[in-house]
Amino acid sequence: MNNLQDKSAYVSGAGKGIGRAIVLALLKEGVNVTGLTRTSSDLDSIADFSKSCTGKFLGIPGDIADETAVEKSIEQTVQEFGGLDFLINNAGIGIIKPIQDMSIKDWDDTMNINMRGTFLATHFSLPHMMEAKDGTIINIASIAGKRGFAGGAAYSASKFAMLGFTEALMLDIRQYNIRVLSICPGSVATHFHTGEAMNKEKGHVLTPEDCAETVLYALRLPQSATAHQIELRITNP
Ligand SMILES: NC(=O)c1ccc[n+]([C@@H]2O[C@H](COP(=O)([O-])OP(=O)(O)OC[C@H]3O[C@@H](n4cnc5c(N)ncnc54)[C@H](OP(=O)(O)O)[C@@H]3O)[C@@H](O)[C@H]2O)c1
Repeated sequence: MNNLQDKSAYVSGAGKGIGRAIVLALLKEGVNVTGLTRTSSDLDSIADFSKSCTGKFLGIPGDIADETAVEKSIEQTVQEFGGLDFLINNAGIGIIKPIQDMSIKDWDDTMNINMRGTFLATHFSLPHMMEAKDGTIINIASIAGKRGFAGGAAYSASKFAMLGFTEALMLDIRQYNIRVLSICPGSVATHFHTGEAMNKEKGHVLTPEDCAETVLYALRLPQSATAHQIELRITNP
């Protein structure tokens, strides 16, 4: 089993929901974590939490679709923590509307955050991982990346793209000993659906912590093995 202590991670969309749960879980394991998100106050609360953890936290306010912000924040991570072991491409939005009602801006925002952001963070992380001949990239996709649903054309398109990206990337870089995988959760109780914290009925939706635990499971596998794609569903809907 991989010991995660003293490894370093970069998590996009770290402020709320699944990203936040992943950051807290990694910090508790002793991983040094950079969190990127647009809302600074969310980073402040994680910084407070990190004081009781062995892992260090570097909170960077920024937009995952902004090339300069992503490049700089990954460079800062490498300087601060001496390398980059894990990249968690988590930042994402879901604008759920029939395509005839979807504005060009809604479409562009979805693609820019969900897919361009994933590309940028991967692009700027890879040189460090390839040099180290080590690393793990986890893309938080969705069951909507495997199946379409009414109103979900833009969101599903971005998540289908993410799964295609994951498949091809794995083939491009496996010889560098870099693991590439996707996690495809069903519905998770986060701010995602409404912009408000979702009213979680225990047992009816996944929790952010379920997703974070799945990330830990994948990271703990021996470096020589990868889960590649994990579809995460609630046991009893
Ligand atoms: N919730 C679900 O049911 C579900 C199911 C399957 C997959 N997922 C996927 O899980 C991921 C996380 O979703 P979630 O449910 O945790 O959503 P969430 O509660 O809305 O959290 C998303 C986080 O991403 C940040 N973010 C959004 N746009 C960003 C940008 N441009 N740059 C940097 N950070 C950004 C948000 O903060 P700021 O807006 O302050 O930046 C927030 O901290 C997404 O990729 C989503 O598609 C969610």
